[in-house]
Amino acid sequence: MFRLASRTASVRASGTHVRPRSVHTHAVPPRGVLPSLVRNTPGPFPAASGSASPTSARGIASLSRASINKIPPAEPWRRHPSSDPETPNVFTFFEKATSTWQYIVVDPHTSEAVIIDSVLDYDPASGVISTATADGLVSFVEHNGLKVIKILETHAHADHLTAAQYLKQQLGGDVPVCIGQRIKQVQETFAPIYGLELSSMDNAFDAYLKDNEEFNLGSLSCHVLHLPGHTPDHVGFVIGKAVFTGDSIFNPDVGTARADFPGGNAETLYASMQRLLSLPGEYRLYVGHDYPQNRDQTCFSTVADQRAENKHVKEGTDATSFIQWRKDRDAVLGAPRLLHPSLQVNIQAGRLPPADEQGRVFLRTPVKFDAGVKL
Ligand SMILES: [Fe+2]
Repeated sequence: MFRLASRTASVRASGTHVRPRSVHTHAVPPRGVLPSLVRNTPGPFPAASGSASPTSARGIASLSRASINKIPPAEPWRRHPSSDPETPNVFTFFEKATSTWQYIVVDPHTSEAVIIDSVLDYDPASGVISTATADGLVSFVEHNGLKVIKILETHAHADHLTAAQYLKQQLGGDVPVCIGQRIKQVQETFAPIYGLELSSMDNAFDAYLKDNEEFNLGSLSCHVLHLPGHTPDHVGFVIGKAVFTGDSIFNPDVGTARADFPGGNAETLYASMQRLLSLPGEYRLYVGHDYPQNRDQTCFSTVADQRAENKHVKEGTDATSFIQWRKDRDAVLGAPRLLHPSLQVNIQAGRLPPADEQGRVFLRTPVKFDAGVKL
């Protein structure tokens, strides 16, 4: 079951210094490692405190863009061309380390695109953050002549770091990073735990999406669905007959997302499931993760398939049964492996915490110690 450290205030959080192994050995950053971390200087992320100058951020970004032109585009796991004029082409990219589906969604009429739920590579043992996965996405965008108009987050992920801020810079610095408006609640919960200034997060994201809000993707219309339950800020995106569900519903043999994070709620998750299952049967529900090792990775199931087969919420499952099952299941789940690094970066839209006076960046890990003695 997910629990935060009970003695965060009295037992000082231990820090993970985000520092690459190669800091003293590489005059030129190896491909895919953030130049800032190799050089031990702020950026290319704008620091959460705003300490990175625009000039340095632009300079690093342009250096990286030159490098990206030489990087081969990521090869989509699957390409889903649309046969319906109101539905986008969907390119799916599976990030194996966290079993995450990343999506590049394209209006075939205009080549405008959105990127949904991107991943920043992170090795917790070494503290190295790298960008090979994100660079592949940027290269895919550039090689295919796409114009990215929004970087979308379905929610503040607890199992991987978002590449949203890195992508924004690589794509020219003016592509808005968007998330559900109830991210404020998530930030209020987690900022104090990680010693982050809540006031510095007022404009961490560029747009805060409301339930039923609409925006255009080229000639297509995108409808925002608030899908709380896994997290309070969680949203999905309906674009034609393609629905991007993040961590709400999963493929039928996986079921549904956990609902025990702070602000999560099994009751509201059930309601969100019903909202998705009430969509037309041929709509595709593209999921945020796929975990089974005994079959090929799968990124979507139709609404009709989910109604018939979802192991947690198929048609006929009553709310009481689901809610009890979900709570019982969550009570025995462990915390996600990258929980703490993910949250303190993701509630800042993919920015790292401020660097110290020596340019070092640390991520905090709250610890629990209840042995009855003081160490
Ligand atoms: Fe999640």
